[in-house]
Amino acid sequence: MATTAPTGSPLSQPSLTHPPPPRKLTTVKVLSESPGLSSIPSIYTFPKQTYHEPVSDTKEPIPTIDFSLLTSSHPDQRSKTIRELGIACRDWGFFMVTNHGVPERMMKAIIEVCREFFELPEEEKRGIGGKHVLDPIRSGTSFNESVDEILCWRDYVKIFQHPEFHSPNKPPSFREIALEYSKRVRLVAREIIRGISESLGLEKDYIDETLNLENGLQLIAANLYPPCPQPELAMGLPPHSDHGLLTLLIQNQIGGLQVQHKGKWVNIDPIPNSFLANIGDHIEILSNGKYKSVLHRAVVNNRDVRISIAVPHGPALDAIVSPASKLVEIVGNPPAYGAMKYKEYLELQQGSMLNGKSSLERIRNGV
Ligand code: OGA
Ligand code: NI
Repeated sequence: MATTAPTGSPLSQPSLTHPPPPRKLTTVKVLSESPGLSSIPSIYTFPKQTYHEPVSDTKEPIPTIDFSLLTSSHPDQRSKTIRELGIACRDWGFFMVTNHGVPERMMKAIIEVCREFFELPEEEKRGIGGKHVLDPIRSGTSFNESVDEILCWRDYVKIFQHPEFHSPNKPPSFREIALEYSKRVRLVAREIIRGISESLGLEKDYIDETLNLENGLQLIAANLYPPCPQPELAMGLPPHSDHGLLTLLIQNQIGGLQVQHKGKWVNIDPIPNSFLANIGDHIEILSNGKYKSVLHRAVVNNRDVRISIAVPHGPALDAIVSPASKLVEIVGNPPAYGAMKYKEYLELQQGSMLNGKSSLERIRNGV
């Protein structure tokens, strides 16, 4: 697993009290639509070795969890599915979720309304939301416009859905579609997190209760990856792991997500009507490293617009996350991570460039 050495103490981060003045960047959408664009500006060019990392030709399929069995009233089916879920978390950190009960029309509707959002005139999008990671609506380009040295080939909008629901006013149907979608997805996520809790040998509701998921953070993070004339030089999103507990992702029919597995990048093409789930840094912390949040990245292409909708689910913002006491009581298994408030972790991650698992590395003990 690629890890990055810590580059300084959290205290040396410039971000919290004196954020650098925001840069005003053009969106990638506008850039990609410039007439005759045949090469990309150098600020979008990633170092060559990024692309020379091997892409796996594995035939090993990503694990699939049948959600209907996870919620089955047959104890045998449920416990078998929980075992499979534990293996998927341990070996891949990523898995497909089928039979989740979220209607296909809702999945299509959220993708389409996010597409409409990205198609709003630039002046309208620019005025929307703030720039701080705790602002309930943020829209922009790259990862963190004010610190990124190389820009990512993506535009995004991130909207808090829970514990407080927010929505941009345009497109007019956004509010209703997002509210319905995020409610349904949250139920699925909480149930999977219960399964993860059990798979770790903890009480079913341990994670839910300890991290106060009744008030847990849920966002809609919509990504737009316009066609890129030199896809081999650019990156939609560089390698990173997600904060929080569980992200559920859908996309339009266009691939681009790659997951690190056994030291290689594996192309993932989600099956229509299913979710691609991955565990986040806070499951790695809570499980004391038994389950790892896995590096993934988004590559781009020169033909199609790709849209993905990631819905991360995290602890309550004020919850302090540390390895579960039951998992560190075992002799010879000291806590591998320090305790940190979820909110502070978000600020830490947003204050640095997206750089592998650098935020998680900072709270790892004994490195
Ligand atoms: C993310 C992410 C991947 C994708 O938003 O954190 O990893 O395929 N997205 O868009
Ligand atoms: Ni991600």
